[in-house]
Amino acid sequence: MAQPLSPKPTTIFSSHSSAVLTLFFLILLCVLGLYTLHHPKSASPSITSQNALHFHEIFLSTATNTTLSTYLRDLTLHPHLAGTQASLQTAQYVENHFKDLGLSTHTVDFEALLSYPLHTSVSLHFQNGSTKDLILTEPGQSGRVVNPYHAYSPSGSVFAKVVFVNYGREEDYRTLVGLGVNVSGCVVVARRGEVSRGGVIRKAKENGAVAVLLYTDGDKFNGIERGTVMRGLGDPLTPGWGDVETGEKLGLEDSDVLKRFPKIPSLPISVHNAEVILRSLEGFKVPYEWKGTLQSKFGNVGVGPTLVNFTYQEEKKVAKIHNIFAVIRGWEESDRYVLLGNHRDAWTYGAVDPNSGTAALLDIARRYTLLMRSGWAPRRTIVLCSWDAEEFGMVGSTEWVEHNVLNLGSKAVAYLNVDCAVQGPGFFARATPQLDDLIIEVTKKIKNPDSERMDIYETWVAMNGGINIQRLSGVDSDYAAFLQHAGISAVDMYYGRDFPVYHTAFDSYDWMLKSGDPLFQRHVAVAGMWGLLALRLADDPILPFNYLSYTAQLQKHVNALGNLLDDSVSLHPIILSIQDLAAAAQGAEEERKKLRGTVTTDYLLKLKRRSLNDKLMLAERGFLDAEGLQGRQWFKHLVIYPPLVFILCFYMIIMAMYRSTQRVFKNKQ
Ligand SMILES: *[C@@H]1O[C@H](CO)[C@@H](O)[C@H](O)[C@H]1NC(C)=O
Ligand SMILES: *[C@@H]1O[C@H](CO)[C@@H](O)[C@H](O)[C@H]1NC(C)=O
Ligand SMILES: *[C@@H]1O[C@H](CO)[C@@H](O)[C@H](O)[C@H]1NC(C)=O
Ligand SMILES: *[C@@H]1O[C@H](CO)[C@@H](O)[C@H](O)[C@H]1NC(C)=O
Repeated sequence: MAQPLSPKPTTIFSSHSSAVLTLFFLILLCVLGLYTLHHPKSASPSITSQNALHFHEIFLSTATNTTLSTYLRDLTLHPHLAGTQASLQTAQYVENHFKDLGLSTHTVDFEALLSYPLHTSVSLHFQNGSTKDLILTEPGQSGRVVNPYHAYSPSGSVFAKVVFVNYGREEDYRTLVGLGVNVSGCVVVARRGEVSRGGVIRKAKENGAVAVLLYTDGDKFNGIERGTVMRGLGDPLTPGWGDVETGEKLGLEDSDVLKRFPKIPSLPISVHNAEVILRSLEGFKVPYEWKGTLQSKFGNVGVGPTLVNFTYQEEKKVAKIHNIFAVIRGWEESDRYVLLGNHRDAWTYGAVDPNSGTAALLDIARRYTLLMRSGWAPRRTIVLCSWDAEEFGMVGSTEWVEHNVLNLGSKAVAYLNVDCAVQGPGFFARATPQLDDLIIEVTKKIKNPDSERMDIYETWVAMNGGINIQRLSGVDSDYAAFLQHAGISAVDMYYGRDFPVYHTAFDSYDWMLKSGDPLFQRHVAVAGMWGLLALRLADDPILPFNYLSYTAQLQKHVNALGNLLDDSVSLHPIILSIQDLAAAAQGAEEERKKLRGTVTTDYLLKLKRRSLNDKLMLAERGFLDAEGLQGRQWFKHLVIYPPLVFILCFYMIIMAMYRSTQRVFKNKQ
């Protein structure tokens, strides 16, 4: 295999250096960064903007569905839950793939606290005296697939009456109180949907419940949805800092660790089992507003008379997890990073979640290597990241970001995430707003796999009745640490959504072949979008960021806020501040037009571009607040964060938006 342009792994990404060493390297790298600016590497002097475009065309023409289907089949041969031997094998598969391509590859391992099920049993005791043991595995489930469970649920045994609480939201409990139903001391049955898993459990505990059984509506496979119930992200033993081998870790009994886990045990159950329980309930009629899929088949919320005998035994274990990286060094600005990331660990076989994305990542690596062999090198450094233990709470990516946060803060241009890449038809994207224009441009270059002669853009417009790029306020994949903790602009993309085999043993290669993407052309489309976005971010002499979208988005937030507040609160300062930001964004746009063009040897022009690019890159960081959100300090981004917080503290948001737009504005000046 050819060894073109493959740089040595940079020491900055290692987890083993002590703090002092890290600092030393950071300083060294800053110096090196400046050095590269003054003395451009002569590695690829032939690259110009024009032939960068030519290389992007080659990228698009080298797509193949056969490689994608092969990668996916290989990755999904065995279930590969994080911390297991099979999971290590997928890490080696990805690493070997990168190495075989001649890419500079390295691994960063962490020791993280994970959670596995030892024993589960649930039996029902009906009023007529008969009992029924529930089957808590899936039909045809192989012994190698982990039994359905909630990671980090505490162990516990209870014997108590059952009650149905709908989605387990605050308002559902209010409805129950209105009916005169007291759930205290009960096992609650709830359906998944409106609240996070952990949120359902905590709310149940607040209302005095002793255990939770959670089912997912509308699953015709009778699969059971596994998932984490941990609060927060990353290894619970190192909250907020990188999990280095010799570094400090909290003990299991530390209050900061304990508060991450629910206080009552829970288990996921199948729709079928939920039906058996709910049909046996008496007491109050199910309120009309709770009508759901199951509603037609049962009529009462309880309490009881059915009793549940529930036992769950958990094993918490410190396990080794493996993040794999391939680095393609930039020839002009090697100290600027464009990162593409996807997790690799899966609850079961992981064909959709996440290995459709892993297959796309591996194919992008293959195609970038083809470009390198025809003479291309990116202007900025591209880093391909394969994360571990995402399913437990974004553990691999969060530890890595926490460990490298200062370095990423000064050098990361954008993080492009793809998790469940292919779930069905239709393209979906979520992004920080300055990337909207670029995403739209790229959708015009990628063919829609489901309709001949149309590109993604055209179908997208037809399907959603307009461009609809969502925002990244959730905490549901590996972009969270990059954006919400480190303030790095980010994108998350996928084809299709709400796939029925989510977190079940049926998320297999077979399902992908039968339903998700029989011809692997949707995989081709995602790989094309992802790879081309990264090429534009890595190769464009001026970063393709437009902050006018950002100000429009902020204005929308403020309008929404205005509708919710009475006259006693003035939004004037924040409105003025957004206007300032809009003016600065307009100025940056004009400068962008002035400075764009081909690669130049004009030293002054280079400096001006570098300076504009730095402003464009760092503006997102301006929204960070060192102290973080009130009560959730880990979340540093004051504009984009989990919606729950958004609803809770208007005043803080107004002040925060004011402060951050002021700061971004100053940064732009
Ligand atoms: C529910 O019952 C528990 C004890 O059985 C009691 O402490 C609690 O106050 C009751 N809650 C309501 C809302 O009545
Ligand atoms: C007892 O009640 C349950 C639930 O209502 C029902 O499924 C079962 O058939 C009943 N058993 C007998 C022996 O009546
Ligand atoms: C509950 O189940 C456990 C076994 O899982 C059993 O040992 C216990 O006796 C049961 N309790 C009741 C009240 O049936
Ligand atoms: C690749 O796509 C072509 C054309 O759509 C199709 O005929 C072929 O079966 C696909 N191959 C795989 C492995 O899905």
